[in-house]
Amino acid sequence: LGAGPLAGRHVVVTSGPTHEPIDPVRYIANRSSGAQGTAIAAALAALGARVSFVTGPASVAPPQGVEVLRVETAQQMMAAVEAALPADAAVFAAAVADWRVANAAGRKMKKDGSGRAPALEFTENPDILARISKMRDGRPKLVVGFAAETDDVVAHATAKRARKGCDWIVANDVSAGTGIMGGAENAVTLISDGGAETWPRMAKDAVARRLADRIAEALA
Ligand code: C5P
Repeated sequence: LGAGPLAGRHVVVTSGPTHEPIDPVRYIANRSSGAQGTAIAAALAALGARVSFVTGPASVAPPQGVEVLRVETAQQMMAAVEAALPADAAVFAAAVADWRVANAAGRKMKKDGSGRAPALEFTENPDILARISKMRDGRPKLVVGFAAETDDVVAHATAKRARKGCDWIVANDVSAGTGIMGGAENAVTLISDGGAETWPRMAKDAVARRLADRIAEALA
């Protein structure tokens, strides 16, 4: 049995982007590296938690000492999170695609010589954070979401916390010039019942350790 303040606790962490297929060889994705989610999973494991790490196709390697559950699409991520429950806490750091292609082709799409381009139709993906936050039975005690904002960070993230129904939102300013998206540092504001608490800019690993400490306190 592990030691540490989170020994005996189970935490589900989502991380990375999702890939939404257009046809068998093409997909829609986003630029999430998975760096912050990976650091959070590592920090939770270092405090003794059993971590189910549900990751899309990230560009950083998953941490040691966690159970890695690899998925590609938002729908697969939703199913993997539900299968990993019950959990004491859930941290949703993944950059889940809001939409998937509704008319994805079963075969590779080909030019037909007409010069016309195909039209993609989209349909909304499940909102994993909102769905888990609003569970009636077996909801994790602590549900943490993220909010990447470019303006009015605290106001938008506070509204997002209410809309999604989660306990905490970790908000960050990803506007141009901050160097945060894809960078090694993050500047976050933790929004909870108690209000908004802005942390100094620090390495993503340090943000992860501080968040893991706070999660351990909340579950104690
Ligand atoms: O609504 P928005 O995408 O800005 O919310 C971000 C938060 O919601 C993140 O915690 C993200 O992981 C989560 N999310 C999710 N499923 C979605 C969309 C976002 O879990 N389909």
